[in-house]
Amino acid sequence: MNSPNVPQTPGPVVGPVVGVVGAGQLARMMQQAAIALGVELRVLANSRDESAARVIVDTRIGDYRDLGDLSDFAKGCDAVTFDHEHVPTAHIRALVDDGLSVHPGAEALVHAQDKAVMRERLTEIGAPCPAWARVSELSDVEAFGEEHGWPVVLKAVRGGYDGRGVWVCASADEAREVVDSGVPLLAEAFVPFERELAVLVARSPHGQGVSYPVVETVQKDGICVEVIAPAPGLAAEDAAAAQRVALRIAQQLGVTGLLAVEMFATTSGLVVNELAMRPHNSGHWTIEGARTSQFEQHLRAVLDLPLGSPSPTAPVVVMVNLLGGPDPDVFARYEHVMANDPGIKIHFYGKDVRPGRKIGHVTALGTDLDEVRARAWHAADCLRGPIDV
Ligand SMILES: Nc1ncnc2c1ncn2[C@@H]1O[C@H](COP(=O)(O)OP(=O)(O)O)[C@@H](O)[C@H]1O
Ligand SMILES: [Mg+2]
Repeated sequence: MNSPNVPQTPGPVVGPVVGVVGAGQLARMMQQAAIALGVELRVLANSRDESAARVIVDTRIGDYRDLGDLSDFAKGCDAVTFDHEHVPTAHIRALVDDGLSVHPGAEALVHAQDKAVMRERLTEIGAPCPAWARVSELSDVEAFGEEHGWPVVLKAVRGGYDGRGVWVCASADEAREVVDSGVPLLAEAFVPFERELAVLVARSPHGQGVSYPVVETVQKDGICVEVIAPAPGLAAEDAAAAQRVALRIAQQLGVTGLLAVEMFATTSGLVVNELAMRPHNSGHWTIEGARTSQFEQHLRAVLDLPLGSPSPTAPVVVMVNLLGGPDPDVFARYEHVMANDPGIKIHFYGKDVRPGRKIGHVTALGTDLDEVRARAWHAADCLRGPIDV
């Protein structure tokens, strides 16, 4: 007999199964899109407490670094994709050899996993990059600084995110500690950018590509804090050029699924910063702000379905990230934020609130840039918690 107190799991699946390796907020937001499409999402989580594991019935617990766990997880999936970029390349190849449909594939994904491989390939295909070099000794950094000037930006070749793994070094002295840590590094010329832009494109296995409007992203301490769509004041021909660069990278690298291209806008044109091959923070605005959200688009692409319209739903859309503040009880402040501005959309990822951690975001839509930005920032500031004065 079934007891009402014992959780029951559903019977056989009724739609295509998409396996997502990783169970952070990106997988969680993919679930919203999967519900509407009747796609069955399965996630590989480290624990049932992770953001997506809390809301996805078919959560499997395992280690993505273990090929056995990964193969068991992927069995029976119509497509396999990722919430993060850390799955070893050889494991992805092994899944493909087993006949699984994995998007993006290993050959494409390595460009989002390894910043030196990315720079090599972008240079090869003629995409605009800062001067760069692999460095292993302090003397390599010194030589690079001599040639291209200081500061020199050192980056961990693998594993960095949210600015962890990026060091702006004003001198060889500052670089010493980073080099001594033994982390494999590349050096980049410091780009004195006017602002940062991002272009999100989707490419399906049958080769269809679409681009979302170019957005402006604002980083603080290496973490994205705000995204403005479309990028204010960007000339139509510059926006089209940025979209062309992103679509060309997707095509040349054989990306399937989403590709986010982070760029620097400089007085002498665009420079590509880095690539991500999954839903991206610079695309969260699309949930309410575009006809097809990035999460739906990613599911369409990995299932090789026709892509959806990326058209915006409002003239101005602003997304502000919610970083953990002093008071963990974010929900207690919903009442004020919602009453104050019924148009604000709150996204809260079900993660533990820790200072500085990305725990959610808010989105505001409208017509006047200053007004929409002010609304989004007010909501995020209130949710973050009382500020001591
Ligand atoms: N070559 C550079 N010149 C100037 N600023 C840079 C450079 N590279 C990175 N940055 C700054 O550091 C941020 C994080 O660097 P990024 O390579 O995107 O690392 P992450 O993988 O942590 O996002 C960028 O968004 C930008 O603000
Ligand atoms: Mg980045």
